Amino acid sequence: MSVKENNKNPAETTVKEKKQLAVKLIPVHIMGKRYEVPEGLTIMKAMEYAGYRFIRGCGCRGGTCGACGTVYRKPGDYKLQVALACQKTVEPDMYVAQIPFFPANRAEYKFTELTSAPEEVFRLYPELFRCVACNACTKACPQGIEVMDAISALKQGNITEAARLSFDCIQCGLCTSRCLGELAQYHMFQLARRIYGARILSRAEHLAEMVKAVEEGEYEEALEKLKGMNEEELKRAYQEREVEPVSAGEDWKPKDKRYL
Ligand code: SF4
Ligand code: SF4
Ligand code: FES
Repeated sequence: MSVKENNKNPAETTVKEKKQLAVKLIPVHIMGKRYEVPEGLTIMKAMEYAGYRFIRGCGCRGGTCGACGTVYRKPGDYKLQVALACQKTVEPDMYVAQIPFFPANRAEYKFTELTSAPEEVFRLYPELFRCVACNACTKACPQGIEVMDAISALKQGNITEAARLSFDCIQCGLCTSRCLGELAQYHMFQLARRIYGARILSRAEHLAEMVKAVEEGEYEEALEKLKGMNEEELKRAYQEREVEPVSAGEDWKPKDKRYL
């Protein structure tokens, strides 16, 4: 570990430079090359600090898009580990490489022709049964998903359970990168959630009622009134609207129930 060198007269040091002086730098190896980067940065920011520019493999920077899969190894450890570059912070002497794209198998299908039969999933992803229950996928998942359990559910034909367990999947592909059986778990889970949402989950009756009400013009008058307001009137209408109290229970309803 080291600190950035600076031979300048301290009296001439600017506020910005003082901040830089206080930053401790640590060595990391990015794509096989050694750099010194500020301690506490995420892998993504450390790579940018080192001069890399993300034109792929970066999206939300907040751990939700799944675009920034990274593989790394710590010094003295033989084990390869995976993480999201926008979430994992750098550690001294870490070896890091970005996974730009993972060419995992994604089955082609016409969703409208699919039913909720488990055999549909078996037909599209026969490699499902190559799972050897090693649990490497679960250990790799940055979302804490019980990936192996979700795969087991699919093998047992339980699409509902697979959809439930994989609900938080962000499609990062890190599970696939570690899978002994060459499964593309996240594509299988996506199919399970689609089937669950469209074929298994019961229909929301209130949605159908609302669509009907919209089509019958129930909201036309109110919308026209809003469209006719100037900015001041709109602000007043917004400020005077009935707000749900913080302590309101599940059964709370506004006084004006015309548009519920
Ligand atoms: S299940 Fe796989 S693809 Fe989904 S978030 Fe976890 S590691 Fe990423
Ligand atoms: S990593 Fe692959 S083979 Fe191992 S438990 Fe997960 S799905 Fe099965
Ligand atoms: S950039 Fe979106 S999860 Fe990292």
